[in-house]
Amino acid sequence: MTNSKKLIAGNWKMNPSSLCEAKALAQELAKSANDKADYLVCPPAAFLQTVKSSLEKSDIKLGAQDCAEFEGGAYTGQVSAKMLKSMACEYVIIGHSERRQYVNETDGQCVKKARQALLENITPIVCVGEDAQQREQGRAKDVVAKQISALLPIADNIIVAYEPLWAIGSGVSASHEDISLMHGFIREKIRNKILYGGSVNQDNARAILLINNVDGVLVGGASLDADKFLAIGKCAQ
Ligand code: PGA
Repeated sequence: MTNSKKLIAGNWKMNPSSLCEAKALAQELAKSANDKADYLVCPPAAFLQTVKSSLEKSDIKLGAQDCAEFEGGAYTGQVSAKMLKSMACEYVIIGHSERRQYVNETDGQCVKKARQALLENITPIVCVGEDAQQREQGRAKDVVAKQISALLPIADNIIVAYEPLWAIGSGVSASHEDISLMHGFIREKIRNKILYGGSVNQDNARAILLINNVDGVLVGGASLDADKFLAIGKCAQ
């Protein structure tokens, strides 16, 4: 691992609802970010430029929530990794479960997207994780193993975020034991940072960040409130 600081990444998803609010949130973050952790915000593509300007004087990094699997061309509505690079994005989230679920993104597409990002020197944060039914059936490890095995050719260059679907947006994070076991399992293949995501907040972040092989967190809901997001960063050792 190149940098031992914890990475606190915010996935704004399809929020906030206006450019004005996005600017206000970014300005708030830029004003008060501490140096206990590395911060990353991933706003919607439509707000990248404004958020970039608002973060300019801070150390907070900029990322996107997705990129196209193609280099460019006739793909209406898509955003290429090259475009993200030109907007100073250093990271891109790939294969978030909401994309795998709602637009049927496959492991194969995730790899193509991650490769496009890498071509532009953008670090892909590839999300993996099982759903509630798969966990109940005792298949959590198999599901994650399959997702990771698709990534093996680029394993040295990506960050992985373990985000069990049942923990996302539920208000209840995975147990420390579950996180520890899964991160240990992923660590066998991934040398770079491994993030945990799923209902991380300012109250549970300290303990989660202390778990072996947790190199940071991917935060959804709590990243939309500057105070809460920065409080999570303060939990980093
Ligand atoms: P959450 O979302 O923190 O709101 O659970 C995490 C994510 O989906 O990345």
